[in-house]
Amino acid sequence: MVERNILITGGAGFIGSHVVRRFVTKYPHCHIINLDLLTYAGNLENLRDVEGAANYTFVRADIRDAEAMRRVFADHGITDVIHLAAESHVDRSISDPMSFVTTNVIGTVNLLNAAREAWKGAFEGRRFYHVSTDEVYGSLHDDSLFLETTPYDPQSPYSASKASSDHFVRAYGNTYKLPFVITNCSNNYGSHQFPEKLIPLMINNIRTNKPLPVYGKGENVRDWLWVEDHASAIDTVFHAGVNGETYNIGGHNEWKNIDLVHLLCSIMDRKLGRAAGESARLITYVTDRAGHDLRYAIDAGKIERELGWKPSITFEQGLERTVDWYLANTEWLEHVTSGAYQQYYQEHYAQR
Ligand code: NAD
Ligand code: TYD
Repeated sequence: MVERNILITGGAGFIGSHVVRRFVTKYPHCHIINLDLLTYAGNLENLRDVEGAANYTFVRADIRDAEAMRRVFADHGITDVIHLAAESHVDRSISDPMSFVTTNVIGTVNLLNAAREAWKGAFEGRRFYHVSTDEVYGSLHDDSLFLETTPYDPQSPYSASKASSDHFVRAYGNTYKLPFVITNCSNNYGSHQFPEKLIPLMINNIRTNKPLPVYGKGENVRDWLWVEDHASAIDTVFHAGVNGETYNIGGHNEWKNIDLVHLLCSIMDRKLGRAAGESARLITYVTDRAGHDLRYAIDAGKIERELGWKPSITFEQGLERTVDWYLANTEWLEHVTSGAYQQYYQEHYAQR
């Protein structure tokens, strides 16, 4: 069997940690190299259960550092890349767009260059898997769905940086014949998500009786997928996807923000033994996000038809598991919301 040394970038983050755990435990014959800078969003506590595995190595490095990327390829004989490292929060991209350019665009190009140089045109059995978002397609204002052929129309600095990185990956495929696949996934939820994103932020604020900041009128729509189903889709595409192809990933599960927040409030009322309606009193409408995309919705028909992937659980099951995880891991929440996060929270929500 060919030895595979799979570089997973951003493996200490939310989705990356689920992908690393899945690959380390499911593929003991593969060596998994988790490369992460450990920004505010990266946390090795997410991987305590696999850190001692014989087929796992952690490397702290910055994808913006081209030389460091070359070294990692050389030191570990990298045969494949699953690239997740990124700045991922739209609100932060509005206040600091440049860090999204340097990490998401330049960081991705550094990895593409490192792969191209290390693999020297011997691309047989090599793969560069770029993990992207449905936000590159822009904002829907009718009842249509994003297809793989939908023209890119990014509307936020975050989605513009991800769109740019997708274009670079395709350009390296076309120009240098670098074997690649790209997936564009809808909003993820589940355990280990940093509580600046909607679902864990609301769970944490309900738990601690803080206001629940709903942007605008709460009418924006997002399409939610359980993170472990995203990790299973990444596994499927990594092993069975066709080079040069793009696959959309989603759960056919659209929710208006305000309806989702009410659902979370009622689940939390039940779990915390509160009277029905008690948590919903915390809902507070705040100033809308600048340029707020109205609706995202994915048509995941291609990956279902061609690769046989579909979500394994319903939204109701996923939310129950997710709420249970945050309630059982309040220490994790307290660790990640201390320090720098407190400052971000004060500054971001003070303006609303
Ligand atoms: P995250 O913010 O939780 O994690 C990002 C990880 O990247 C962190 O561990 C961070 O330390 C690391 N990182 C950041 N900058 C780095 C740098 N310069 N060098 C090395 N490591 C760095 O993000 P996430 O939600 O897990 O998203 C992972 C990927 O999936 C991203 O590429 C994102 O665009 C994409 N994605 C996310 C979603 C979602 O709903 N969260 C949906 C679709 C696609
Ligand atoms: P988010 O989790 O930041 O994901 P994205 O912007 O990438 O879709 O936000 C999901 C939706 O929830 C989005 O429409 C913005 C909204 N939102 C709020 O209403 N309040 C909040 O405090 C946050 C973080 C998001």
